[in-house]
Amino acid sequence: MIKKCLFPAAGYGTRFLPATKAMPKEMLPIVNKPLIQYGVEEALEAGITTMAIVTGRGKRSLEDHFDISYELEHQIRGTDKEIYLKDIREVMEQCTFSYTRQMEMKGLGHAILTGETLIGNEPFAVVLADDLCDNPEGEGVLSQMIELYHKYRCSIVAIEEVEVSEVDKYGVISGREIDAGVYMVDNMIEKPSIAEAPSNLAVIGRYILTPDIFDILRDTKPGKKGEIQITDALLEQCKKGMVLAYKFKGKRYDCGSIDGFVMATNVFYQKHHQG
Ligand code: UTP
Repeated sequence: MIKKCLFPAAGYGTRFLPATKAMPKEMLPIVNKPLIQYGVEEALEAGITTMAIVTGRGKRSLEDHFDISYELEHQIRGTDKEIYLKDIREVMEQCTFSYTRQMEMKGLGHAILTGETLIGNEPFAVVLADDLCDNPEGEGVLSQMIELYHKYRCSIVAIEEVEVSEVDKYGVISGREIDAGVYMVDNMIEKPSIAEAPSNLAVIGRYILTPDIFDILRDTKPGKKGEIQITDALLEQCKKGMVLAYKFKGKRYDCGSIDGFVMATNVFYQKHHQG
């Protein structure tokens, strides 16, 4: 029933400059696969085949990555190198991709609203590809969240516990635990100070959103950092109805930061390239 996944990928990625000066952050590879492809594969595993990507200036390589490269195909056809294209070919065979541009970087909430034209009036998933999620024990984070959506039919954010000293980097929630690891959200603050933080439960880059979020976003004023924040819109949705937060199973790597990126690289290298 969740058929589409939105990938806001228009941010500047300033923490990775100069690498991101002419290259999208989402194209940075963990070992040999770009972050955006891990995100698309997670969505595909969750049964989603319609990928909607919000891009910006200088992000054309994202579109090229999910398109046929005739010269390359011709060059390696029938050679032992074809194996390297196996995963991306599978993704391209099964998924459709559509794109729209966010012309001004007015925040994640604004990027999601920009994606409305690709999503329409239906519930959808959101993946921030710089949060790389891995669950070696079982199903991916989006699969877990979609299962929960089928039960509750409301917006859901993925959360994890972070160090108290780190809360000012995230949207932070508080709520009542209604099921193991499932919270009914009653408050949500974007990048709170330690004193303001309602808990240490931080929202990470996976969401299921119901389409009424678009009208709420249209009315959401710029918040922290002068940006339109999805956290503020979700708090509004919470007041009007219900939003859940879900402590997912698995591990998330903040690949928008150098430390998280290096950690993910090491783990994925051990896992996939050392047998
Ligand atoms: P971040 O704040 O982590 O990304 O936004 P950033 O701005 O690219 O990175 P830094 O902080 O400058 O290093 C979270 C996600 O929201 C998207 C980003 O692409 C990223 O996936 N985003 C953010 C947009 O698409 N548009 C925006 O205006 C802001």
